[in-house]
Amino acid sequence: MVKNTSQYVCQDCGGTSAKWSGRCDNCGAWNTLVEETIIEQTPKGLGARKGSNINFVSLQGKSQAPPRRVTGISEFDRVCGGGLVPGSALLVGGDPGIGKSTILLQAAASLATRFQVAYISGEEAIEQLRMRANRLGLKEAKVKLAAATSVRDIITSLNDGDTLEVVIIDSIQTMFVDSLESAPGTVSQVRISAQELIRLAKRIGFAVILVGHVTKDGQIAGPRVMEHMVDTVLYFEGERSHQFRILRAVKNRFGPTDEIGVFEMTDTGLMEVTNPSALFMSDLGGSLNGATVFAGIEGTRPVLVEIQTLIATSPLGTPRRAVVGWDVARLAMVIAVLESRCGLAIAANDVYLNVAGGLRVSEPAADLAVAASLASSLSGVSVPPETVFFGEISLSGEIRPVSHSEARLKEATKLGFSNAIVPKNRGKERGMKRESKMKIREIEHIAELLSLFHTPKDRVQNKGQSGKNNDG
Ligand code: TYD
Ligand code: MG
Repeated sequence: MVKNTSQYVCQDCGGTSAKWSGRCDNCGAWNTLVEETIIEQTPKGLGARKGSNINFVSLQGKSQAPPRRVTGISEFDRVCGGGLVPGSALLVGGDPGIGKSTILLQAAASLATRFQVAYISGEEAIEQLRMRANRLGLKEAKVKLAAATSVRDIITSLNDGDTLEVVIIDSIQTMFVDSLESAPGTVSQVRISAQELIRLAKRIGFAVILVGHVTKDGQIAGPRVMEHMVDTVLYFEGERSHQFRILRAVKNRFGPTDEIGVFEMTDTGLMEVTNPSALFMSDLGGSLNGATVFAGIEGTRPVLVEIQTLIATSPLGTPRRAVVGWDVARLAMVIAVLESRCGLAIAANDVYLNVAGGLRVSEPAADLAVAASLASSLSGVSVPPETVFFGEISLSGEIRPVSHSEARLKEATKLGFSNAIVPKNRGKERGMKRESKMKIREIEHIAELLSLFHTPKDRVQNKGQSGKNNDG
């Protein structure tokens, strides 16, 4: 039996409700419920008919790594886990104007030298696409271009035409299935369009790349369910005011997540950045007070990032915490530890934290660099020159070891740093060699860090708690 009624669907999370309300009961978002028609089969249960038996096999067995369609843009390929997998679906999300269409057109052109590639745009007219290709110097590329939004037309064309190997759909929010009454971009349209395209991709064996818009709070617009339907989810992010763009894998059935690709937006398109560390540091490289260099890891790659903080007297009752590129809660924690374990008086001031270059750091390993930066801006003493920091701070003020310390130190040496302040016991990591050129200072407690700053007494009152022992 086909029941044909309408329901209200949250455009953020896909949650449904029978009546309209201002706030979604499911995710708490405001003004996201939209009326949509549902065409749903009433579930009937299995009935008496017997199915066939399925085979059980052992975990052991011959399995081949999936073949890859390499784009030739190595930053892009790495994020995908080594290229596109035939029959797989990839979702690329990102703010409007961040460069999704640009990077995908570049990837399409590069792929077209070896594969059959189609680029279907529902957002731009052919003229606009050609203009972009012209600007990118890709006029000659053998990409099959189309402007279409009807999923029925697209599927028919992909079925009947030449066998394609890669299909790019820009964007899934513009696609619609004509059997559904809802407008394009609504949850049910996005879901069913993606479903149909992915099913075709699996059947014919092309890799499909879907572009998805993101909402104000950074989710891929429409249903989060779409993230479950695809094999790989990439986010294209970056501050619009910066030149740098980061492609980040947040889900990947065919490769590692947390891998990033770094690009720079130029007037001839997105260029790969193979040495990102140089990019995320200002020229002053930590010589100002309040600036420290964090030796971080993004995916499998070490990246050095400059962290800047500023502490200013607050005119407000509730001091301001403004954070760009890091976690506000994490900053609050580091401030609390500095306050209660070392007696620094920060909490009543405004605190600004900025990760240079527009990178988003999510590692707790940045704690130590942030603490050093805060201590430096509070005391007005800059951190020792050519020094990198990494280490996680626990609530007791202990510095905990973090992974990949050797890779972090190697990258720092490569970029000309000669000092490192790191957690004790980092040697427990397997297969570790001591880095020879680098002067490494291992610390156990946050208080040892503060001894680096000859802090004027009027700003820092030592409440007693100090480090257990200093060793270098
Ligand atoms: P676009 O790829 O259209 O973004 P999206 O598809 O994510 O919405 O990128 C648009 C922005 O990129 C626009 O602000 C202009 C800029 N841009 C360049 O700076 N250089 C270029 O070569 C191109 C093609 C775009
Ligand atoms: Mg676009």
